[in-house]
Amino acid sequence: MINSSKELFEENFSQSPIATAFAPGRVNLIGDHTDYNFGLVMPTPLSLGIEVSIIPSNTLLIEGKTELFKESVRSISAPVDGSWLDFVTGAINVFYEEFPNSSKILKNGIKLAISSNLPANSGVSSSAALEISLLRAINKIENQVLDNYKLAKLAQKIEHNFIGTMCGLMDQMVISSGVTEKAMFFDTKNGNIENVSLFKNHKFLIIHSGSTRTLSKSLYNLRRQECQDASKKLNIQNLSEANRDMVDSLEGISFKRANHVISENKRVEICLNALKNNDPETFGEKMYESHFSLSQNYEVSSELLDNIIEKSESLNILGGRLTGAGFGGCCIFLINQNDTEQIFDTLSSHFSDIKFVDVI
Ligand code: GLA
Repeated sequence: MINSSKELFEENFSQSPIATAFAPGRVNLIGDHTDYNFGLVMPTPLSLGIEVSIIPSNTLLIEGKTELFKESVRSISAPVDGSWLDFVTGAINVFYEEFPNSSKILKNGIKLAISSNLPANSGVSSSAALEISLLRAINKIENQVLDNYKLAKLAQKIEHNFIGTMCGLMDQMVISSGVTEKAMFFDTKNGNIENVSLFKNHKFLIIHSGSTRTLSKSLYNLRRQECQDASKKLNIQNLSEANRDMVDSLEGISFKRANHVISENKRVEICLNALKNNDPETFGEKMYESHFSLSQNYEVSSELLDNIIEKSESLNILGGRLTGAGFGGCCIFLINQNDTEQIFDTLSSHFSDIKFVDVI
């Protein structure tokens, strides 16, 4: 599926790696900006992903080769600097903090090669895929007891402490434990997970809008803060505890953010039933409502994303929405299975920068 990171490693370092690991990207079918509000989400793994090959090196350096970013070298103990090597520093640090009795051999240096067919910075979780693949590769060397939940939590810790995005657990959880071609209904409050088969005669088409996300880290963290502020006003722990009357008592930004969160949770619940009852019409309707709420209440859409979604409403499409954090990146559409190619072509004829990502 992707040019192998192993080949890239061998070409670049003239030796073979000793551990190789893969992690998929993910697309969120519905339920955005609810996970850090202890709400409901419904993502699924993609067939695209990231593969990492590594070897311990004893050079006290991180030496990295990728097709994605600039080749880089820096000291194993260097502080984070905003480059992709921060993921490697993060993975090594959180892993050894969690498993202090392992050999810690990678603390003495690491060589790695990364290959990917996942668009970066686009709402399909390339960063969580990189975190999980790195942790998996490290654990192939260290052989510790690392279940999927712990793996997801460690990956989230990399994101929080080394990358600076105060994300929820959705991406890391579906990437560590999601099942291909099944939607993962995940209640982030109690950790309950239900894997549900996708529609038989309908497909989800994922396209890249052509604009990568801008300012996503700071705006993402700001949204999270705004939700905490709204919860404080309501005297509750998180917005998923709010009911309609409570939300209606709020004003301004607090009202808008809370309105999104409680309505989006409801939509995820309805979509779970729609999947189980093979009711793509209802699922699609909720996708459009979700996009509208993300755009108007949560304010994480963009003019381009709104235009693409608006255009899709005039085509033979059941539902569409931006997916992931927003601020640019990808859209997802629910379409009759035989129409995906034709719909993609029609959308591309109106929006020239659109790129095909995946169909599931
Ligand atoms: C990013 C975060 C997730 C989630 C989504 C929005 O992908 O990593 O935790 O909050 O945005 O739903």
